[in-house]
Amino acid sequence: MVLPDNFLWGGATAANQAEGGMNRGGRGLNNVDLLPLDDDRLAIAKGRLSNLDRRDTYFYPSEEAIDMYTHYLQDIDLLAEMGLKTYRMSLSWTRIFPDGEGEANEEGLRFYEAIFKKLKAKGIEPLVTLAHFDVPLALIKQYGAWRDRRMVAAYVNYATTVFKRYQGLVKYWLTINEINILLHQPFVGGGLVFKEGDNVTELTYQAAHHQLVASALATKAAHTIDPENKVGCMLAGGSHYPYTCRPEDYLEAIHRDNGEYFFIDVQARGYYPRYALKKIEREGLNIQMTEQDLIDLSENPVDFVSFSYYSSRTVSAFEDDYATTTGNLFKSIKNPNLRSTQWGWQIDPLGLRSSLNMLYNRYQKPLFIVENGLGAMDTPDANGYVADDYRIDYTRQHIKAFKDAVEIDGIELLGYTTWGILDLTAASTGQMSKRYGFIYVDQDDEGRGTLKRTPKKSFYWYQKVIKSNGEDLD
Ligand code: BG6
Repeated sequence: MVLPDNFLWGGATAANQAEGGMNRGGRGLNNVDLLPLDDDRLAIAKGRLSNLDRRDTYFYPSEEAIDMYTHYLQDIDLLAEMGLKTYRMSLSWTRIFPDGEGEANEEGLRFYEAIFKKLKAKGIEPLVTLAHFDVPLALIKQYGAWRDRRMVAAYVNYATTVFKRYQGLVKYWLTINEINILLHQPFVGGGLVFKEGDNVTELTYQAAHHQLVASALATKAAHTIDPENKVGCMLAGGSHYPYTCRPEDYLEAIHRDNGEYFFIDVQARGYYPRYALKKIEREGLNIQMTEQDLIDLSENPVDFVSFSYYSSRTVSAFEDDYATTTGNLFKSIKNPNLRSTQWGWQIDPLGLRSSLNMLYNRYQKPLFIVENGLGAMDTPDANGYVADDYRIDYTRQHIKAFKDAVEIDGIELLGYTTWGILDLTAASTGQMSKRYGFIYVDQDDEGRGTLKRTPKKSFYWYQKVIKSNGEDLD
């Protein structure tokens, strides 16, 4: 048997893409609630277009999403039927603190408690992300979000509240989802909205510093409250390939890797890497950092490194090479050796094995693949059943790749949670039609549908995979 007996097979979702119930149970609004299904979505996500007040002319996919708010307990029954050992989910910060700070909302706390108790009853280990792109709207309006140091205290207070409340129910925590997304979509990653004349790079790295300190202090709180807690950082993963063997392209690939791994370098090793300090100095960025911040970072590294993996990226030192790019938000040349999904994301299972090697060599900490999956259009039959052989094939190839990484390369891997275990709204586009799930959810892009859940062919396949601990992939 290649994988250890306690390997955590699972599936993942995030509150803003699955939970819905935006105005129910005393919940406040988050940045992600303000991302419409519209051509403006990308500009808003990047913080270039301000949309801090809800507009009737927009449709907001996260308002209802797939309404796990109502369906949670029955959904967990399906996850248990699939045999999941772990379920990755996120808490909606504003369901617990409607204004991001201040008084906690007991109804919100009870809501998640019921979920964790149900998971426990089913023998499923929760893996909980504290902030999966969520930034409370009240804190955006009051402080300008993560650009302001007061966010650190608000986040740590939120984290401490849930660590205490869910002690004994939750052991695995992730502090901030895809923390490097802050560089690419600053409103999604950090609630940042820019004005004309803002120093975007400086503000973004200041926000990054606050997130890194907040993550370290949350890690400290988690360990103090319960030494059994295991805390991970979370990277939007995928290595950079040089487009050619020109030395310039190889160096560009190293630099681009550094640009993304910067966050994890700090979270896993506990200090700013020299290349980042040089960048700050070279570009004259005025980043406020205290002595105490540096101590907090160094004393509280994470226990494990988690990451999402959808694709590798291909880069060149020469702008002209970027004539054909991929659909993913990372700037990447289309790799002629790879196939692409219907959304132009390139499929590269072997790249997952390379990423595992790269991350393990760099950090020497246990790894956890917490997102991987195929976003595709599904066509259900009259009974709502989808024969998604393409999704099975994608997942099989990625599982084979990480098994090789464990067996041949000696990588320490805690688990694998596929994205999203049931269909949910897409983060980048807001579409429901970009489906990832092993469970079909009857809902269209504009929020029409019965919300009925129907297992797909992949559901039964994954059930078999888990049962055999990854030995039976047929
Ligand atoms: C990751 C996110 O970026 O990729 C998820 O953590 C997201 O929230 C996933 O859904 C897939 O991206 P998309 O845009 O296809 O939903």
